Amino acid sequence: MPLKQLAPGEMTADDLRDWCSVLNDMTAADMPAEPRWRTDRLRDYLVGSLPDDTRYLFMDRDGDGDLVGHASLILFGGEQGGTGVVEMSTRPSARGKGVGTRLLRAVAECAKANGCRTLSVEVIATTPAVGFYDRHGFTRLEVEQRHLLRWAEIDWEKIEHAAGRLAAGYRLEYHAGGVPDRLMDSYADVKANLHSNPGNVAFVPEWRGSAYAPALRDSFTVLAERGMRSHIAVAISEPYGHVVGLTELVVSAQRPTRADQYDTVVAPEHRSYGLAMSMKARLLTELRRAEPQLMDVQTWTLDSADDVRWINAELGFVHDVDWYDYEADVDKLLARMARKA
Ligand SMILES: CC(C)(COP(=O)(O)OP(=O)(O)OC[C@H]1O[C@@H](n2cnc3c(N)ncnc32)[C@H](O)[C@@H]1OP(=O)(O)O)[C@@H](O)C(=O)NCCC(=O)NCCS
Repeated sequence: MPLKQLAPGEMTADDLRDWCSVLNDMTAADMPAEPRWRTDRLRDYLVGSLPDDTRYLFMDRDGDGDLVGHASLILFGGEQGGTGVVEMSTRPSARGKGVGTRLLRAVAECAKANGCRTLSVEVIATTPAVGFYDRHGFTRLEVEQRHLLRWAEIDWEKIEHAAGRLAAGYRLEYHAGGVPDRLMDSYADVKANLHSNPGNVAFVPEWRGSAYAPALRDSFTVLAERGMRSHIAVAISEPYGHVVGLTELVVSAQRPTRADQYDTVVAPEHRSYGLAMSMKARLLTELRRAEPQLMDVQTWTLDSADDVRWINAELGFVHDVDWYDYEADVDKLLARMARKA
């Protein structure tokens, strides 16, 4: 059976089971300590995208009908239009036979046909994907340090203390699933700092909306639709009740023992009061109650983000592996692939 492009809604129960089994074979081979994937809400996870974005899925089966590899391509619309994010896996038993290349070609052709000029991909430094994307001429733009906080190693006394130590004139609030309307505009304003100060954050998750309140609302809705539970702590300045700092974390139904911590940002005029530390510590105390199955939290930072790294280290995060951001120009990638074919 040839490589097939599917609309996410076309996936059958067998497709979903096979998709998950490739992910888990890949995890066992390349990153054995990482949590395994579940089929719980996997369809929702693969179908969901922000209103401006479009997702394409690709499945490659061998002559016996066994799934040997799959890929997902998200084409951003709106502000990030012209860029696509790729994720792909070849089943370890089928590697080195051109499956990955076939999938990449299909992805790049689809990207080009839909006006996408640049493909980006996140790669774990210790995996064969590095050799693969190097071979295909991708450029390494950024190195991010993945840090892991292991639940069993958390010093809860220290975390509770940090969560309760708050500068005068501020209070913290915790919210699950989104941010109440009364906070949305100031929340969006604080988020805008991530765009103007990119050193503060590393990994740009595919689901992150813009700093524009309606788009943020959409991004929380889409997260929920994809089976991703968001947990948020905000710092609020008194007496106006505006958000001046935020930290966000997501727990997915597909890997519920793992939490992904993304944005943490404090508005410039409210920095140096220890708000980031208090917010992150508070979020952990809330998670202990809300997500008792958790085994770890992962986060990413750039080498340059000293302040965030210091806070993470205080909370018990440990650097375990680097992630690379790779990028390729779609036309050049297709031209290289045509020369090699
Ligand atoms: C990356 C991956 C998809 C490659 O799949 P694959 O089917 O083995 O790739 P191919 O057989 O098409 O290999 C294509 C080229 O990459 C090269 N390559 C593949 N793995 C390599 C490695 N570990 N080191 C060096 N080169 C490598 C091959 O030698 C080949 O080069 P050639 O064209 O000169 O022969 C596969 O290793 C994988 O699933 N990795 C885990 C998932 C992952 O991390 N994905 C990246 C994030 S999206």
